[in-house]
Amino acid sequence: MNHATPLLEVEHLRTHFFTPRGTVKSVDGVSFSLAAGETLAVVGESGSGKSVSSLSIMGLIPPDAGRIVGGSIRFRRRDGSVCELTRMTQRELRRLRGNEMAMVFQDPMSCLNPVLTIGDQLAEAIRIHLGGGRAAALAHARRMLEMVEIPAAARRLGEYPHQLSGGMRQRVMIALALACQPSLLIADEPTTALDVTVQAQILALLQRLQRDTGTGILFITHNLGVVAEIADRVAVMYSGRVVEQGDVMRLFAQPRHPYTRGLLACLPGRHHGDAARLAGGRPRLAAIPGQVASPLAPPPGCAFEPRCALAQAACRAAVPELADFGAGQSARCILGSPQ
Ligand SMILES: Nc1ncnc2c1ncn2[C@@H]1O[C@H](COP(=O)(O)OP(=O)(O)OP(=O)(O)O)[C@@H](O)[C@H]1O
Ligand SMILES: [Mg+2]
Repeated sequence: MNHATPLLEVEHLRTHFFTPRGTVKSVDGVSFSLAAGETLAVVGESGSGKSVSSLSIMGLIPPDAGRIVGGSIRFRRRDGSVCELTRMTQRELRRLRGNEMAMVFQDPMSCLNPVLTIGDQLAEAIRIHLGGGRAAALAHARRMLEMVEIPAAARRLGEYPHQLSGGMRQRVMIALALACQPSLLIADEPTTALDVTVQAQILALLQRLQRDTGTGILFITHNLGVVAEIADRVAVMYSGRVVEQGDVMRLFAQPRHPYTRGLLACLPGRHHGDAARLAGGRPRLAAIPGQVASPLAPPPGCAFEPRCALAQAACRAAVPELADFGAGQSARCILGSPQ
């Protein structure tokens, strides 16, 4: 197996939706890569295209609403071969999902079946992917619940989702996603609905599981405190594009894009590298003045230009190229470009 090949490589991805009001360019030229065992955080305001990017990777864009219209998503399989997800059939994608790649959604109730016990749901997933009998699958399911630190796991197997607290349901969903040891885990705001203590426990759990299994994690969040806590690298999205990406500590210490600077300036009690304090402050991305451009009518140039205090005429002319700042950091801004 060639470990130099990234686990996931997204290049110039474009996913559009076709609505009666026009084409929504939800994802419009997104590129990033993820190595095995690495965590890449994707941050950005509501509507910037984070979920649509994840659903595109998982092959879950509703075909009656939209589709991937360009770009490529390469995924390194367990056997070392690299496949192009955008060209796979639904049948092939289904075989990969919940097996080599899995996703944890924001709302656990949307993926848990309310009329099946936790044990039956886990056992079914385990049997589909690993085979074996029901008894063996239930034993495996109990070990999975223990792994995500659910107390009294044997008893919980016989319970229904509504009998569990939000935090416990989230753990069950993580257990479900990890049951088949995926090499790629996409977690879309997995802790937003939870209180701070449970959130911290779930993040610690994900990190421990990642250390044990080498899973690559794409972690989507609004919360920069969580990013500081868990990510190796971060991609900042704005209006369907990645406007800046880089190593998390470097990007926090020296943000190059005015949008990234704005996000970081919104953090209360910001202190470089002080992840615990950032996490404790529950910072949210909210306080940049102005509104995200309508995805139906994006401006021709930089999408952040209407909100940018530093904007110049050139910013309106064309979408800025990605400027490379070295050490893996890049930003789509003409002002920050190295001379
Ligand atoms: N089925 C759909 N039909 C039309 N437009 C859609 C559809 N799904 C998403 N969009 C649009 O795509 C854009 C990006 O949405 P997306 O869900 O990826 O945002 P997000 O970054 O995940 O936001 P949030 O932080 O609120 O979860 C939004 O403008 C959204 O309205
Ligand atoms: Mg989303």
